[in-house]
Amino acid sequence: MSEQPKVKPAEGRLGVLLPGFGAVATTVVAGVEAARRGLAKPIGSLTQLNTIRLGKRTDGRSPLIRDFVSLAGLDDLVFGTWDPIPDDGYESALKAGVLERHHLDPMEDFLRSVKPMPAVFDSAYVRRLDGPNVKKGANKFELAEQLRQDIRNFKEENDCARLVMVWCGSTEIFLRAGDAHQTLEAFEAAMKADDPDIAPSMIYAYAALMEGVPYANGAPNLSADIPALEKVAEERSIPIGGKDFKTGQTLMKTILAPGLKARMLGIEGWFSTNILGNRDGEVLDDPDSFKTKEESKLSVLEHILQPEMYPDLYGNLYHKVRINYYPPRGDNKEGWDNIDIRGWMGYDMQIKVDFLCRDSILAAPIVLDLALFLDLASRSGMGGVQEWLSFYFKSPQTLPGLYPEHDIFIQHRKLKNTLRWLGGEKPLTHLGLDYGAEGE
Ligand SMILES: NC(=O)c1ccc[n+]([C@@H]2O[C@H](COP(=O)([O-])OP(=O)(O)OC[C@H]3O[C@@H](n4cnc5c(N)ncnc54)[C@H](O)[C@@H]3O)[C@@H](O)[C@H]2O)c1
Repeated sequence: MSEQPKVKPAEGRLGVLLPGFGAVATTVVAGVEAARRGLAKPIGSLTQLNTIRLGKRTDGRSPLIRDFVSLAGLDDLVFGTWDPIPDDGYESALKAGVLERHHLDPMEDFLRSVKPMPAVFDSAYVRRLDGPNVKKGANKFELAEQLRQDIRNFKEENDCARLVMVWCGSTEIFLRAGDAHQTLEAFEAAMKADDPDIAPSMIYAYAALMEGVPYANGAPNLSADIPALEKVAEERSIPIGGKDFKTGQTLMKTILAPGLKARMLGIEGWFSTNILGNRDGEVLDDPDSFKTKEESKLSVLEHILQPEMYPDLYGNLYHKVRINYYPPRGDNKEGWDNIDIRGWMGYDMQIKVDFLCRDSILAAPIVLDLALFLDLASRSGMGGVQEWLSFYFKSPQTLPGLYPEHDIFIQHRKLKNTLRWLGGEKPLTHLGLDYGAEGE
């Protein structure tokens, strides 16, 4: 195991930069402010609510994570954002329809004070959207320079000691990593040539990294998941992570599938369908944006179930994912799963899940935790892809050559053990053979 790093203390203000100021981002900003005012609890957030057991079970040491490692406090957070739609935080939150007026109205002044900066946006990458609050520049490189200037201005104007960026923008059309994404030189040349392979989310990721700002991607599009930017992150010791917040149906999938596999129960088929009516649903109604999301959602089961190792149980699994845009539901989507499983002697059974879910309510604590943990990683000198944050993603970005870990329980253990390591404690193996002596 590598040597335990020295963690710099979380002194001063932390600027949380959110490209995309729609349902998820406004729910985070409003929720943090509500927590600061004591109006609501940050439920779902490990950094705010979770404890961490240290040492033997008999030791009785289980501090809150935020008391164990040094994390920025909620009072030290200040939010910045970009969006092609110029709505301030209050208007955007009202339109998103996630939070109710009894929560929003008492915070109206604060929410109105968070206004999106002009975005680097191109509707060629998000076809169902358009908006006037957009930067102009001779080419993509110049747009990146403008974003870098925004980042520097924000830091200075808000007296921030450190910054982090979490992409909360729409899902872009499906792109594969190509020649333009292999090295920093190729990437910069492609930006100058306005190469269509450079999507707006990549320009934000580039701008963040060039300013030394940790970056996480909450959508399934590539963004920082390309060799050129991974290398910059590694070489300059800037933490990055992605992709696609693990909420809703995929969260349920990564909870259920490891359980069924642990009991060596077979799975013949898993059919998942959703209806949702928010802006995200509208964007995903475009087949090219849906394809990006579909790839992200489909890979989950394969990696958890390992059909190559268990052909009798999972070799014939039929996995289908559907997303249907249905405006009356707004952000309160409904997700149905039909799971055809097989037990002893091949007898079949079915599991039905009907999840009346609030996607942004599940995503908001992820954004907060990612912001605080990326900042922790940065202060600990941990650069490059942060696999220990896979817990938060549908499609975890991995170190080159490694497959992503999707099992939420392994992800959770890895996250907690990384925190123990950062705090100078031994990782827990839960072996417990010598209970009483070691007491694990
Ligand atoms: N809600 C969830 O639980 C959840 C889960 C996983 C992933 N996500 C992803 O998170 C993202 C945000 O979700 P949402 O529900 O808030 O969607 P949303 O449509 O409400 O908000 C996205 C915002 O991003 C803006 N945007 C688009 N392109 C941009 C650009 N280039 N620069 C700046 N802003 C841009 C849009 O104008 C919009 O306001 C989506 O990509 C979604 O797929 C959401």
